[in-house]
Amino acid sequence: MIPRDFIDELLARVDLVDVVGKRLKLKKSGANYFACCPFHGEKTPSFSVSPARQFYHCFGCGAHGTAITFLMEYEGLGFVDAVEALAAEAGLKVPRAQGAISAAEAAQQKSERQLLLELHAKAADFYRRSLERSPKARAYLEQRGILPATAERFGLGYAPSEWQALAAIFPHYSEPLLEKAGLVIAQPDSGKRYDRFRDRLIFPIHDRQGKIIAFGGRSLDGGEPKYLNSPETPLFEKGRTLYGLALARDGIREAGFALVTEGYIDVIMLAQHGLTNAVAALGTATTAEHVRTLLALTDQIVFCFDGDAAGRRAAWRALENSLEALKDDSRLRFVFLPPEHDPDSFVRAHGADAFRALITDEAKPLTTYLFDELTRDEDLHTAEGRARLAHLAKPLIGQIRAPMLRLQLEKELASRTGIAAETLHEWIPPAETASPSSRPAARRPRLAARRAPLPLAALLLRLLITHPLLASRLSVGLLPLEDPEPEWRACAAIIDAIDVGTLDAHATPAVLVEHFRASEHEEVLARHAASLLEETLPWEDPEATLADILHTLRRRRLEREIEALIALSRQRKLTPEETVHLGELLREKNRLTSVGTSGAIPMPQPP
Ligand code: CTP
Ligand code: MN
Repeated sequence: MIPRDFIDELLARVDLVDVVGKRLKLKKSGANYFACCPFHGEKTPSFSVSPARQFYHCFGCGAHGTAITFLMEYEGLGFVDAVEALAAEAGLKVPRAQGAISAAEAAQQKSERQLLLELHAKAADFYRRSLERSPKARAYLEQRGILPATAERFGLGYAPSEWQALAAIFPHYSEPLLEKAGLVIAQPDSGKRYDRFRDRLIFPIHDRQGKIIAFGGRSLDGGEPKYLNSPETPLFEKGRTLYGLALARDGIREAGFALVTEGYIDVIMLAQHGLTNAVAALGTATTAEHVRTLLALTDQIVFCFDGDAAGRRAAWRALENSLEALKDDSRLRFVFLPPEHDPDSFVRAHGADAFRALITDEAKPLTTYLFDELTRDEDLHTAEGRARLAHLAKPLIGQIRAPMLRLQLEKELASRTGIAAETLHEWIPPAETASPSSRPAARRPRLAARRAPLPLAALLLRLLITHPLLASRLSVGLLPLEDPEPEWRACAAIIDAIDVGTLDAHATPAVLVEHFRASEHEEVLARHAASLLEETLPWEDPEATLADILHTLRRRRLEREIEALIALSRQRKLTPEETVHLGELLREKNRLTSVGTSGAIPMPQPP
């Protein structure tokens, strides 16, 4: 192993700006330097280097990392060689005493992904065979109208109703990698292990190349939760994965557009009806990354969500998140199903032709949908109504980077508000990641304040990456580690590392990220460190923000305890102690709620 201390020292000695500057032509703009990204073809520079954070990030292709990462990627070096090269540039010698990472170790790190993929392939095979053997699961498919050929196309399976069914194919059932893969769950206190998926219909989730990277499981008998998915793992990141994409590629090319739905069954049932171009966001909002992925395959996307209120909210979120990914030639449309339908039920009730007709006749172009929604409650005959429309449209149009599209929307807004298009053009801030020359620095914070609020876990993680010193105010016990967000676990790891002294509380983001290289936190840390270059910091006062986060975490914990006691009280009479405790919790909650927060956490705004 190369000693940690040495990596820290190395990163302190070298300047990323020099390292990159030796290889690329850098231009200073504001606090950062910019270059044309070496990792993807581009004419306007979107590769940014932060001297303060010692971190780079390309707004175009998303490449990011430290000086070590840069050498690895730019020169095509392995980790050890990159450290060597960097040390040579800094005039340092890599301590060899304990030896560098052994070839075996390096191979092991490299192949973890490979091993995880193998586990998934094996599990999927097992689930598929179990489906064949389970009359109950096959009856369920039949009842849902899923034909055997369709089940086969999507590799559907069944997880038997046993605690350790997977032990049949994984004799080393206690192997930690099974847990890392999300296939097996270990109980925190007893350490007892059991299968994550039990008595569920299994949907393998594939990456773009068609490799299985996760599973979704649906309960057959109305048990809760209806769907259970793999957690985020080194293979699987929800916000970047679209269910059905690998299978839909050809269909998308043929149809000339991609169809985005909400659910597994929607994708499957549409394919069964010959609409093989459907994908689904996995129980999360459609992200900009999802849209970028699809726009790389086609210039047309049709969003077709459930007809209920939740589906309408999902459509609006999809619109908001799409804006930054749009290109001038993108055509996005939104279809609204009758309230009682989702794509699955619609296509089964009315057939494929009716569905196609719906898409052709009823789909609203993005611009129409956007203005329809924004003007729904506005009276444009009044000055106030027109002002409100301009006010609401501004942050949305401000996210669009495609110049022609933006211009068209500005014109549209002009015609509805009576404000001159030129005035609007001046007034709406340029998109965040336009090339540095066209981005007056002074305008950025105003836009940033309007962006969607960060989830609490991401906010805390970014706070700790920029101010690791604040970790001392936190205890791991306060974090909701049972939540699925990997950010909470990364926060816990930082707090731990600073607590035991392996990580310096004054570490730069680069040192911090390198500290966790090759750990489960590497990816999430690097991603958030990179995002700090892209966006204006999501807080003004770090201390006040931390106080707010702590406040919220305490309140959430109280609420969970209260809910648990109330649930218990429905099952049996509470003991006198429990009743007293519940009273205390409720009083404590009231106290916390009335104190309120300082308002530093941006509050979610309804669409
Ligand atoms: N989902 C999830 N976790 C849940 C509920 C939903 O991950 N607890 C995701 C699944 O990907 C699901 C999608 O959200 O496919 C849509 O959910 P929903 O509309 O409730 O289910 P359907 O896909 O319509 O499934 P079904 O028709 O079987 O009820
Ligand atoms: Mn459904």
